[in-house]
Amino acid sequence: MKINLVTEIECDVRVEFITKELLDEHKNKKTLKNGGFKAEQDSICFLHSKKKLICGVDDFENDNIRSAASVAIKSLKSTNYKSTSFNTIKENIKGLVEGIILGGYEFNNYKSTKSDSKLKNIYLVCQDIDFIKKDFEDAIIIAEATCFTRDIVNTIPHELNPPSFAKLAKKLAKENNLECNILDEKELEKENMHAMLSVGRASVHESQLIHLAYKPKNPKKIISLVGKGLTYDSGGLSLKPATSMVTMKMDKAGGCAVLGMIKAASELKLDIEIHAFVGAVENMIGGDAYKPDDVLTSRSGKTIEVRNTDAEGRLVLSDVLDYAQSSVDADYIFDFATLTGACMVALGQYTTGIMGHSNKLKHSFFQAANESGELVGSLPFNKHLKKLLKSEIADISNVSSKPYGGAITAGLFLDNFIKDENKDKWLHFDIAGSAYTESPWDCNVYGATGAGVRLVCSFLQNIE
Ligand code: BES
Ligand code: ZN
Ligand code: ZN
Repeated sequence: MKINLVTEIECDVRVEFITKELLDEHKNKKTLKNGGFKAEQDSICFLHSKKKLICGVDDFENDNIRSAASVAIKSLKSTNYKSTSFNTIKENIKGLVEGIILGGYEFNNYKSTKSDSKLKNIYLVCQDIDFIKKDFEDAIIIAEATCFTRDIVNTIPHELNPPSFAKLAKKLAKENNLECNILDEKELEKENMHAMLSVGRASVHESQLIHLAYKPKNPKKIISLVGKGLTYDSGGLSLKPATSMVTMKMDKAGGCAVLGMIKAASELKLDIEIHAFVGAVENMIGGDAYKPDDVLTSRSGKTIEVRNTDAEGRLVLSDVLDYAQSSVDADYIFDFATLTGACMVALGQYTTGIMGHSNKLKHSFFQAANESGELVGSLPFNKHLKKLLKSEIADISNVSSKPYGGAITAGLFLDNFIKDENKDKWLHFDIAGSAYTESPWDCNVYGATGAGVRLVCSFLQNIE
């Protein structure tokens, strides 16, 4: 499927977006109404004899165009049409491109018969190509980086394990001219990253710390992105129930997202230096597994009482965040993690939870969320929840002593590993709900969504 920008074209079928108000003035109003079409958001009506696909939208906001374009493209992919066109303007190019690419995304690697869509060419028609071209090209880069992230998350744990994750990162580094440094278990030992190493100890796959860097000349800012890369989370000895374990290949979504972000930033040629750190680990059971009751010494020197081996993401991140802070003097540090089921309880499954100390920084992400179409919600820290992580035998416990506010206590656990001088530079993003879906919503289809990639790209694009 190729998307082209043109001033005019004759195609097999033309897609038209209309609101309820426009339906009353429409040329084909009678036929559409006879077909029961009311121009409701995300409803469609084919007028095959007129070579038209009519799509309902509440208004022409990007969120609605993105969602309607997703419905349109899915429907077109099941027809025999080879080409289609959409009229567009600068204000809608981002929503339209994302709807087409993200809504039309399929992951068929494990199907013996691949879906064979006839739709090969998509034309976006606009009057002033020069005026719109950069937005068009940028939107394609961001949508494709989101699909790159989705592809890795969707890959099964047998194929995508910590060493193959590192290999994939090396390949990305080569293709995009990024610096790449991988630490294997021997090097992680030297770094005293015992929290991370303990989580991966029962796995047959060696844990890996991936560090990629995009370094343009004279960068305006330096940003460290840290991702939880649990290629599988069985829960460890605090084993997950069978039904909760299904989908846990997605526990690497934070790591996959930061790779998507650095890929996009380098292709957009942003003048911002980006460092992506991924803690790639598999949480398994076995005679060598780390245990509830263990006390781990993290890279920072702080000791952690393990009370639940399923709260493993925060252990990996505690070491990777500490490593990231010692290796790069960044202006901002953002971590992305499918960290807690509690985040979904708090915000619903569509929304990423944002935590941190700087209201100003959080505010820039509310703006980035509005622009990118991702959903975010702020979860507030407080000193009372912080106390629930107290341990009787170590510096901190890896789980809270009370069952409420689990997303926030996980965020507060990470806060213990953020150096004082970095408190206002750091934000934590819990993508447990938003990274993966078993039913389609907006431009997301079954499986990984690529959560975080579009959001961070909007944030980066806004940096003055
Ligand atoms: N990876 C899970 C969190 C998760 C759950 C992500 C569901 C996506 C969907 C994480 O490692 C975990 O198991 N967290 C525990 C923490 C608890 C033991 C304090 C949880 O959320 O139950
Ligand atoms: Zn877990
Ligand atoms: Zn996990």
